Amino acid sequence: MSLLTRNLDMFDPLDAEVAQKTTPEEQLETVAGHIRACELCGLYRTRRNAVPGEGSAGAKLMIVGEGPGDNEDIQGRPFVGKAGGLLDKILAAAEFPRESVFITNIVKCRACELVDGKLQNRAPLAPETNACRPYLVRQVEIIQPRVILCLGSPAAKGVIDGGFNITGQRGEWHEGPFGSRLIATFHPAFILRRGGAGSGARELKKLVWDDMKKIRDYLASAG
Ligand code: URA
Repeated sequence: MSLLTRNLDMFDPLDAEVAQKTTPEEQLETVAGHIRACELCGLYRTRRNAVPGEGSAGAKLMIVGEGPGDNEDIQGRPFVGKAGGLLDKILAAAEFPRESVFITNIVKCRACELVDGKLQNRAPLAPETNACRPYLVRQVEIIQPRVILCLGSPAAKGVIDGGFNITGQRGEWHEGPFGSRLIATFHPAFILRRGGAGSGARELKKLVWDDMKKIRDYLASAG
């Protein structure tokens, strides 16, 4: 089971609009329009741009991160900062071109707080993740990916199970919605924070690589 279930009647107007569109691209754009206008939690107050997600509407692999950071908030695109650079390298090594996957986050607006007069990123709060989850559910329903890869603990907790332990449970398959499989691995930003030689970053990269190979092999065998 996963947390990606349909349960909010207040999304009926969005669902009705999506139902009128004929292609998955148009349907995703309809969801994106609602996300850009969303005021369901307080994150809209500080956003410059919402970040609905981007990629192929027919993606077999969907990638779900924690939430937009400063660069993503400026550009309105997911994973365009340093962590995005490492994600691009990981995807390229596993032979998943970025444009072949769909990349999004559990919250679509930057979560931040004022520290010493500056806005700094923070992890999204449970009410923010809960408010935003119905958008992710609809993106999954439209794309129907075979695999949903959660990057990092907040994404895995928001998608797979609130008690998910990223160190102990990464690389394990879980049942997802619409016939998909869920899996989690470490977030690229977590690897980058470890730094250079002797920091453990190398070992983390190896584990992420194991997880990416597992996904690649599954997708190759599932056709
Ligand atoms: N980190 C995330 O989790 N998501 C992004 O979009 C960028 C960085």
